[in-house]
Amino acid sequence: MEETIDQIHAKAISELDAAADIQAVTALSVKYLGRKGEVTRFLRNISRYRPEERAAIGKRANQVKQELERSFKDVAERLEHTGAAKKERIDVTLPGRPAGHGTLHPITRITEEICDIFSRLGFDIAEGPEVELDYYNFEALNIPKNHPARDMQDTFYISENIVLRTHTSPVQIRTMEKQPPPVRVIAPGKVYRCDSDLTHTPMFHQVEGLLVDEGISFGDLKGVLTTFVHQMFDPHTSLRFRPSFFPFTEPSAEVDILCVMCRGSGCRVCSNSGWLEILGSGMVHPALYENVGYDADKYTGFAFGMGVERIAMLKYGIDDIRKFFENDARFLRQF
Ligand code: DAH
Repeated sequence: MEETIDQIHAKAISELDAAADIQAVTALSVKYLGRKGEVTRFLRNISRYRPEERAAIGKRANQVKQELERSFKDVAERLEHTGAAKKERIDVTLPGRPAGHGTLHPITRITEEICDIFSRLGFDIAEGPEVELDYYNFEALNIPKNHPARDMQDTFYISENIVLRTHTSPVQIRTMEKQPPPVRVIAPGKVYRCDSDLTHTPMFHQVEGLLVDEGISFGDLKGVLTTFVHQMFDPHTSLRFRPSFFPFTEPSAEVDILCVMCRGSGCRVCSNSGWLEILGSGMVHPALYENVGYDADKYTGFAFGMGVERIAMLKYGIDDIRKFFENDARFLRQF
């Protein structure tokens, strides 16, 4: 026997009750109300009923059609709502996710450590620009144009007379220009050289030191730098002063410490020499005093400069300078 419109209605409602998601509701809508849907076909075949029944059955069928349309729409809306709610639901009983907090970059830490040591020795902090005049970066430091000593520093030139500073030594000149002796400053900062390999990056950090007063001798330089090395590394670290050359100091010395890796027996890090170079230093060249208007007969002083990355690498046993700048949080978090 053929289904009545009320049977179709009842079936549709019970299937709709079971619908779990919007896709199921859409499928039911097609099944009953679509072009070939059961209700549509029922209405299309209304002529099989006797004429006197048709009006009532047709009216009922149209009612069912409207009721089903409304029900499908209601259920679809409800499902859409609860589905979205499910996605957004927050489980307040879960423990919170800790916010990741940063640490100081190892280069910042080492810079601060160096500055702390010199602050305790009575040095002030001085700063200077990273985009620097050729005059301060070279000429006032007794490195004239075309001097072969310029070869030591692979300079980024901005223009004929403007460079990215290749070292923090220009801060010596800027400081002395601003104040009369006594001067006791250290100058930390970024410097730039056109160089890149396992131990060089185009940007790196230096700390410069300058002390000028009456009666300052090479003995003062040795005392201050020995104190620094003993505080930075350990109090038993041996160090040696090796004659060297810098245009802005005379005499000049490089400071080596006994290799922190092999304790002097020779290894890869110290190229089997047992020693590691950590800074350049010397007695301030009288030509600098002339450039800043100091009385070279009255005052003497010493200066030094060190690479922060180099110190950090030795202290932490890091063999590739580029690790500092790759920003791998797993590396940086270790310090
Ligand atoms: N400016 C030198 C460099 O970058 C380092 C240096 C050496 C600084 C001797 C000084 C010094 O103040 O006296 O290689």
